[in-house]
Amino acid sequence: GLFAGGAVAAAGAVAGTAMAMTRAPETVPAASPAAVPVLGAAVEPFHGVRQAGIATPAQAHAVFAAFDLRAGADRDGLARLMRLLTDDARRLTQGRAALADTEPELAALPARLTVTFGFGPGLFKAAGLPAPVEPLPAFSIDRLQERWNGGDLLAQICADDPLTVSHALRMIVKDARSFATVRWTQRGFRRAAHTQEPTHTQRNVMGQLDGTVNPVPGDADFERAVWSGDGTTLVLRRIHTDMETWDAADTVAKEFTIGRRLSDGAPLTGSREHDEPDFERLTPAGFPVISEYAHIRRARVEDPNLRILRRVYNYDDGLAQDGVPDTGLLFASYQADVARQFVPLQRRLAEADLLNEWTTPIGSAVFHIPPGCGPGGWIGEALLA
Ligand code: HEM
Repeated sequence: GLFAGGAVAAAGAVAGTAMAMTRAPETVPAASPAAVPVLGAAVEPFHGVRQAGIATPAQAHAVFAAFDLRAGADRDGLARLMRLLTDDARRLTQGRAALADTEPELAALPARLTVTFGFGPGLFKAAGLPAPVEPLPAFSIDRLQERWNGGDLLAQICADDPLTVSHALRMIVKDARSFATVRWTQRGFRRAAHTQEPTHTQRNVMGQLDGTVNPVPGDADFERAVWSGDGTTLVLRRIHTDMETWDAADTVAKEFTIGRRLSDGAPLTGSREHDEPDFERLTPAGFPVISEYAHIRRARVEDPNLRILRRVYNYDDGLAQDGVPDTGLLFASYQADVARQFVPLQRRLAEADLLNEWTTPIGSAVFHIPPGCGPGGWIGEALLA
């Protein structure tokens, strides 16, 4: 007993040392358990000229649920549906049970819940309105599966707690049932809340720091890049990541692919994460340090007003039948104008991006995100009332 205990303690001490030596730059010294905050009661405002869930700092868990409208849905029916769903969202996000909530206790900890609604092209058609969004054009890299594509209505549900997300989804689905059927649901996650300082860029399933160059809420650029009036658009791409072959690549190849270092996210021409990449810099042999085909070079948008807002989640649906990880990104991109901002960018990446070797878009959907509403209003009112 004594011996075993000693061995465990010694192993712990060794492991502790090793961890300290390899501590990643984004970690912070461990806080004492007493200092860990309990924030299940935290609330994000629901009312506002814009919907929450876009400029909101990304919560740890998300589910995107797309619905198909039932045959015969019309503008009046849609108005009734959106009144109902807005009421659910208004209550649940503020920690109150939905009307006819069958598990009202689960509403008590909203954990920063946001419920954001989006309208697909089919909803406008059903309402007899011109559609401000259309499906994306086809890209050469696409291997789209119909089961992850499209949708007439979207509910994007995000919270720092997965049980809260599950409950909110259930309430929304129940209340949508007489008007619409579920087309797909896609669950995603980021780091658990409070694992890291919120100011740190997070890593994705491929291990890269993801989100370094992104419009910052509150900046004038963000306003122009993301909002059009008080609405926006969402492009949701389900992108499979081939972890088996990615794991076979070495660090040099992985960093060359992105144009940034894995350890700290610094551009290959810089020393810190937020250093400007120097795309002109050449190696002694005369080749660009950041390849012409590196992801950050192909994805670079010089005009900050034309950048996209990436609010990306990871997905991990376990192992596929062949034992291969079913993982990737729920690549959620918000922009004022899909055709001006997203499409040319995705086209440049499809043409030549080293990352394409390991990533495959398998789902694609586009939604108009209508403005928010006040206490007496509902989402979509300006379009459907
Ligand atoms: C940058 C990963 C797909 C647009 C980055 C960075 C990483 C990354 C590691 C560098 C750090 C950062 O600035 O965030 C990935 C992965 C993808 C993916 C793993 C797929 C699985 C896409 C797609 C688009 C895109 C589909 C757009 C259509 C961008 C943009 C940047 C970026 C705009 C910033 C470029 C700049 O430095 O100006 N991505 N990305 N990415 N990515 Fe992606």
